Order: sequence, then structure tokens, then C-alpha cells
Amino acid sequence: MDTYPIFTKQNKSLLAKYLTKEVFEKLKNVKTKNNFTLFDAIQSGIKNKDSNIGVYAGDLESYDKFDLLFNPIIESYHNFSKTNTHISNLDSTKLKINPLDSSYIISTRIRVGRNLKNFPLGTIISKEQRNKVEQLVSNTLLNFQDELAGDYYPLYKMDNAIKNKLIQDHFLFKNGDRFLETAGLNRDWPYGRGIFHNKNKTFLVWINEEDQLRIISMQKGGDIKMVFNRLVKAIKKIEKELPFLCHNRLGYISSCPTNLGT
Ligand code: ARG
Repeated sequence: MDTYPIFTKQNKSLLAKYLTKEVFEKLKNVKTKNNFTLFDAIQSGIKNKDSNIGVYAGDLESYDKFDLLFNPIIESYHNFSKTNTHISNLDSTKLKINPLDSSYIISTRIRVGRNLKNFPLGTIISKEQRNKVEQLVSNTLLNFQDELAGDYYPLYKMDNAIKNKLIQDHFLFKNGDRFLETAGLNRDWPYGRGIFHNKNKTFLVWINEEDQLRIISMQKGGDIKMVFNRLVKAIKKIEKELPFLCHNRLGYISSCPTNLGT
């Protein structure tokens, strides 16, 4: 099948590969309940010709309504076919790994993307909904105790000293990513965004960047188990208060199909 003629040979994205004329015709009038369309899903890949993937989702339903396009992209990227079902396993006792030799490893970081149930994804979320997500997530995190206790720093009023320090430590996310921009993910910047971190900056949560939550555990050296344990503890504590958006087959849902699963 030919790819749709809006793409040229230079366009190497999975979007260009799988948006055949036939798929385009079948999906061009499809909409989710939140009015997310094919046009919305492919914007970033159309405008950024160097995209690798080229699509973003608008909500949970996008992954079903646009499955003719999303499934082959997911299969190609994750080697996960449309008959597979994702199994999430956050049982750290099953982790078969010893601390790695810290003389070779500067730091270890594990992060996951999560979004809240009952909200559309950041691509089409309204300003009010985004602010609500910020409020729900930051209030939950501000109740955390002990090692996970920390503060929330909203981006719009972050003072320069804190900002510069976070940038220097590579902890801060930046505006201006053209992929996110064209996917609608930077609307109303910098409002509704911010960073929570504990005192030691070993536990961080970005709020309302590409996903509503990016939960991060990190520390110096190579103790993966310790990093993973902290991450799992935090994920479970958040999830108890705020259920995450989850698909019965694909696992936890992200705006970009590259981050699906666990
Ligand atoms: N949308 C970009 C592309 O298609 C980035 C994809 C992966 N990265 C990400 N942050 N989701 O090339």
C-alpha cells in the first residue's frame, strides 16, 4: 500500500509509514468523545518532518478509535502486537539485579509517565482541567512524609535561583519543544505546570509536561534496586489517591505511544 501523498521519501516517521491512503480514508472523520480527531493526532508529525513517531493521543479512547494507525506504530516501536496484553509488574522483590559498580556509574534514574483517569490528555486538556490536575497532584504529593516529603514549585512563579539550580542539575523541563508545541502540549505555558521534589532531589514529579505526571526516582551511583524501590513506593502512594488512566490491553496510557505500558 502506498503511503499517503502528504509525505515525501524524506519523511521517515512511523506516521508516514502507516498512514496509508486507506487508513486515512477510514479515520478521517473519526472523533473521540472529547472531539479528538485524526487531524489532531498527526499534527506534530506533519509539521515536524524529522519526527520518528509523529503521533500523539488525546485521550484513552484515541488508542481504540485510531487503532488502525496506532496499532502498527505501537507494534513497530514496542514489538507489541495488537493481540498482546501488557502485564504491569511493580513487584520490586522480583527484581533480579545487584547494585552496579558505582565507580563506573555517575547516577541512576528511572522515570514513568502517568495521566489521571477522568481527564483528557495534555494535547487537548482545557486550562481549567489542567489547573485541576496540578492541584490534585500537588496536594497529594505535599502530604507525603519522610523520604518522599518535599515541596511543589509552580513554574509560573519559580524564582530564578531555584530555576537556575534545577536547570544546572538537569531536573527542570523546558519550554519550546517543537514536537510538544505542535501536539498542543505547550498551551497556556507556563501555567498549570511545575515540579515537586523531595529534599534530596531523589524523588521528583513533573506536573503537566508531556504527561500529567512524570514520576522520577534518581540518585548518585548504581544502586538500581534502591532507585526502583523508591519509585514503586511513590507510584503506589500516588495511585491510591489518584487513579491513573489505564487501558485494558496497553497498560498505563501516555500522550506519546512510546511511553505506553508501565
Ligand atoms: N514526537 C517525537 C517524534 O515523533 C518524539 C517521540 C518520542 N519522544 C517523546 N518525548 N515522546 O519524533
